Amino acid sequence: MKSVEIFVLFLLLPIVETGVFDFFSGLFDNDKLLPFDSEEFKKDLRKSLYGQHIASKKILKAVSGFMKDPNPPKPLVLSLHGPSGVGKTYVTKIIARNIYQMGQESKHVHTFSATYHFPHKKQMESAMYESQLKQWIHGNVSSFPHSMFIFDETEKMNPQLIESIKPFLDYMPHIDGVSFRKAIFIFLSNAGQNGIINFALDFWKKGKVREEIQINTEEMEMLVYEHILIEKSSGDSQSCLLYQHLVDHIIPFLPLELRHVQACVLAEMSSLNVIDLDVAHTVAKEMSYYPPEEKIFSVRGCKSIRQKLMLHIDERDII
Ligand SMILES: Nc1ncnc2c1ncn2[C@@H]1O[C@H](COP(=O)(O)OP(=O)(O)OP(=O)(O)O)[C@@H](O)[C@H]1O
Ligand SMILES: [Mg+2]
Repeated sequence: MKSVEIFVLFLLLPIVETGVFDFFSGLFDNDKLLPFDSEEFKKDLRKSLYGQHIASKKILKAVSGFMKDPNPPKPLVLSLHGPSGVGKTYVTKIIARNIYQMGQESKHVHTFSATYHFPHKKQMESAMYESQLKQWIHGNVSSFPHSMFIFDETEKMNPQLIESIKPFLDYMPHIDGVSFRKAIFIFLSNAGQNGIINFALDFWKKGKVREEIQINTEEMEMLVYEHILIEKSSGDSQSCLLYQHLVDHIIPFLPLELRHVQACVLAEMSSLNVIDLDVAHTVAKEMSYYPPEEKIFSVRGCKSIRQKLMLHIDERDII
């Protein structure tokens, strides 16, 4: 055989092995994993996420350690807790854009919202959700092991639904021939928020600098557990997960202060190419703050900032 023929054969071999369609779609697939760069991830968190030093640090360590491990013993399971509008959903976008070429738009990122995807609580519908969810997770991980599953409003999920996906989160080498050890599961919830808020408030009352709030894992777990139990009606699903020790990291999100809201307004302004510090301050001041007397924390965090901002800027200023 001539060397040219051998060369052509060499080129064709992968096509024959993988199938023509798979080979060509693989060539043009731009929805793959990025080479994980923990320094870039760190910079992105520092630049984009305001006022969440505990969450930033924990997420950086947890995700970087997991992504660098060629053979993790189990999937990564994170549980993010805190009040509304403080960056829980937002940080999942930051994680996704540091893992997948297409970031949050990647077909490997699957987001479920309890009230939208699992609205019915009756026995029959719950059984249907369970089997569909299991199939969805199993199918996607079997075709892409590094798939990410985000569960929003976890506190509103039927505990049985969480129970049904527990095997996927555990130290199971295989389930029906599929390994889940490279998958990422992120649960978002407001459960336990009162514990976190009281903790931050006490700290503020003692006149300490917020950035000095350091809390070890056991302390935070106890804080979140205790309040989930107090907020019992909303915490069933969450406690079912936590108590089974399937969550690797419980991550607290602190309530945001005026200066963080101001930073959010400036970020919105910069995306519109209009920067005006006075307007940023005015918009941040217009948000409501609690407790009623001290007015330290923003009631809605950084939610609806853009809508508020639009009331203050002239459309002609937007470039
Ligand atoms: N800590 C933060 N740093 C930077 N931007 C933030 C932060 N928190 C919130 N934002 C901005 O506010 C928007 C709303 O926040 P996000 O959706 O993450 O809130 P959440 O914590 O998920 O609230 P909820 O519990 O109501 O779902 C984000 O898209 C982001 O633009
Ligand atoms: Mg959210």
